[in-house]
Amino acid sequence: MQRFDTAKAAALELRPDEPVYCFHPSVLKADAQAFMGMFPGKTAYAVKTNGEPMVLKTLAEIGVNCFDVASPGEIRAVRELAPKAEMLYMHPIKAQSDIRLALEQYGIRVTVVDHEDEVTKVVRVVRALDIDPGQITIYVRIQTKGHAAYELSKKFGAGPAQGVELLQRLHRSGFKVGICFHVGSQIEDPDTYDRALKSADWVRNRAGVPLVGLDVGGGFPAEYGHDPNRKVPDMPSIGQLMSRLRSDIEEWGFGDTPLVAEPGRVIVARAFSLIVRVLLRKGRRLYINDGIWASLSDSWTGKITLPAKFIPDPAIRQRNGDAANIVPFKVCGATCDSVDILSRPFWLPETVDTGDWIEIGHIGAYSLSLRTRFNGFYPDRFVEVMTPFDDGERPHGYASLETMAD
Ligand SMILES: Cc1ncc(COP(=O)(O)O)c(C=O)c1O
Repeated sequence: MQRFDTAKAAALELRPDEPVYCFHPSVLKADAQAFMGMFPGKTAYAVKTNGEPMVLKTLAEIGVNCFDVASPGEIRAVRELAPKAEMLYMHPIKAQSDIRLALEQYGIRVTVVDHEDEVTKVVRVVRALDIDPGQITIYVRIQTKGHAAYELSKKFGAGPAQGVELLQRLHRSGFKVGICFHVGSQIEDPDTYDRALKSADWVRNRAGVPLVGLDVGGGFPAEYGHDPNRKVPDMPSIGQLMSRLRSDIEEWGFGDTPLVAEPGRVIVARAFSLIVRVLLRKGRRLYINDGIWASLSDSWTGKITLPAKFIPDPAIRQRNGDAANIVPFKVCGATCDSVDILSRPFWLPETVDTGDWIEIGHIGAYSLSLRTRFNGFYPDRFVEVMTPFDDGERPHGYASLETMAD
């Protein structure tokens, strides 16, 4: 992979017309190590967030030895790039053939359910393979309430009474059991984990079975950009959140239960930035070479404040306006689809023009993993960039949370 000191140096040397992902391995290592240093349990990186080989390899090199996987594709990727790592198969709803593959071919022994029919599938496979259920840990995923950019309890999780029944049934069948929850991705309320622990405590007390683990899922917010127009206060730092979580865990009596977390975003978001090119400026609209069907769907749906740096093309000799004046632009994606317009504006210097580049920071989570080949566009060019996005030049703009009229 070509290596550059900054994304700006890469843009000016390569003059790329296609999007270029800038990988910052030092940031990935630092953010993963910081999380593992703060979380008082096992860290299982959520592969769905970004399963690129360079990410899995770098994490394995620094000692991440457990991964949360959700599909045969993710299982294969982890086995290839981190062959010694443990895998937790934490998708609550799985095809029976995939459960069999996980147990039989990959030796996975930890999984999750949120419904009795999923238990039936697991039991069938375990019997067919003649595995002792005592070797298998099954987490029961319970619903939680909170505020996050993505709420996951709308889709997954057993209600409290159902959670109790599932735990008791699994215990009776000889499985080891645990409780897990997922508070949603990029939480927006510091009380979220406390509420989830309260539910877990209720379910544990009613179930009355021994627990081998509590899995607190993901949701830990990544530090994105700052929108000066935003009214609500920013979230506490990950360090503050984690110290709150540690005391909540003690308070709810889970201090002696082995803990697991499945962080994704907080580990990988800042490890990539993305150089995009302005293909055309039309008034206050910028048509760029990426969009919601490629790297920007998470920022479109997830209300994420992405920071941006302006990389002016030196070949443009004449510009209108004042570069110090930061104004909102509507950003339109590369495809022919009219949905492919970011729902929120990017604030950038008013001098941005056709041919310039923009470096979008903190794009490592749910960007590469959500790319499609729609319209034949598929960004897949990578460079390594030594200077982290947050170091060096300050961002000139950001994707705001306010909407913009046409
Ligand atoms: C089961 C599960 N675990 C972990 C994650 C990772 O969450 P995050 O990126 O918010 O840390 C997700 C994200 O959707 C998930 O569904």
